[in-house]
Amino acid sequence: MSAKENFIWGVATAAHQVEGAWLEDGKGLNIWDAYSHTPGKITNEDTSAVACDHYHRYEEDVDLISDLGVGGYRFSISWARILPDGKGAVNQKGIDFYNRLIDGLLAKGVTPFVTLYHWDLPLALQMEDDGWLSYRTAEAFARYAEVCFEAFGDRVKHWMTFNENWCTAVLGNGTGLFAPGRVSDDEPYIVAHNLLLAHGLAVKAYRDGHYEGQIGIANNCDFREPLTDSDEDRAAAQESLEFFYGWLTDPVVFGEYPAIMRERLGDRLPEFTPEQKQLLKGSADFLGLNHYTTHYASRTDQVENAVSSEDGNGGISDDQQVVLSSDSDWPVTSMGWFVVPWGFRKMLNWIHERYNGLPIYVTENGTALANNDVETAIDDTERAEFIQSYTNAMKEAIEEDGVDVRGYFCWTLMDNFEWTRGYDMRFGLIFCDFETLERTPKASYYAYREIIQSS
Ligand code: NOJ
Repeated sequence: MSAKENFIWGVATAAHQVEGAWLEDGKGLNIWDAYSHTPGKITNEDTSAVACDHYHRYEEDVDLISDLGVGGYRFSISWARILPDGKGAVNQKGIDFYNRLIDGLLAKGVTPFVTLYHWDLPLALQMEDDGWLSYRTAEAFARYAEVCFEAFGDRVKHWMTFNENWCTAVLGNGTGLFAPGRVSDDEPYIVAHNLLLAHGLAVKAYRDGHYEGQIGIANNCDFREPLTDSDEDRAAAQESLEFFYGWLTDPVVFGEYPAIMRERLGDRLPEFTPEQKQLLKGSADFLGLNHYTTHYASRTDQVENAVSSEDGNGGISDDQQVVLSSDSDWPVTSMGWFVVPWGFRKMLNWIHERYNGLPIYVTENGTALANNDVETAIDDTERAEFIQSYTNAMKEAIEEDGVDVRGYFCWTLMDNFEWTRGYDMRFGLIFCDFETLERTPKASYYAYREIIQSS
């Protein structure tokens, strides 16, 4: 990516997946603390109580980040560490921790990219206010965001309000797979609405505060390739992308949900008031993309290798009227996700075209290998090849298609708490031994460093 001097290579994590120290230094409980201690929810009954113990070992981790040769580190702040009950008193020890982390990164020349919300809602807000079903949570988020801007905004210049709102809405309140574990057809739309308003309020606070920096949002999307060239399948793919990325991104760029969603859902889709549209329109300086896989999309259910709605669209699949499938030639990762680098290139092009060239950061991309033995895990040629092929596809999008991609953050620095999959799914460039907490760089750590150095 030598053509782009301002391009940043990075690596990503999230607070709840790496920090541990769940009951230390005044931190409040969050919904994933509760969920991961609920029997039957997590593979092997793993909990996130200790995770990678990054809270205590962050200095070692900053060294590993720096030695990887990346220019940026994307991490998230634990809301309940800063405001233990979500909206009351500020916990100074929480602020102190992130100050130490940010200063440590800057001292090594690594730019912090900070996500304010990566799924770990303070439990009190779930219990007292029904979490994201309530607008009160959006208001609480805006206050939390302001506390963070004031504490860290002098040194953090790249902010993301939310990570993968699709997962919060669909997996948290649609299929019930993720915390808070609710099952509903309509709640995902209400949750998404409040998340979007929360984004708008936080961005307004940031801009009103005249901080020097950029603020955006990190949404996820799998690519949808039409199964055939028919008009029906092309429409199915396009509409599926609008229901996925467009749902959570159109409002922050255009101030409206995609027209197809209004058409399909009618008044099941909440409305923004004119003031809210104004608040949201143009509220992202950049768009984040977390991207992992691709599916074919079709209108007909006469397909081979159909992908279940659990793995594809979640509970909103009926609303989309789309049938997803895969190709038997596509390699599959341990998560059951298909490896399709050309889908990544097309995804970047789709975003570039739909959002009129707004800058894009690839805020996550990576792969899981379920391998719990250190000797075999560090020999992860498959991961190195995955990163090589996906970054090649990104390079083509930038250099041949003219897509404005400003950075790439590999998911993830080290094996960590993979939500409902516990410690069984390893996405890291570094092996983490969850007994001893020892970190061992894998072959992919060195391969990624090579990719960065030779770009
Ligand atoms: C997306 C999420 O943001 C991250 O938390 C998760 O670990 C990865 N995808 C892999 O599933």
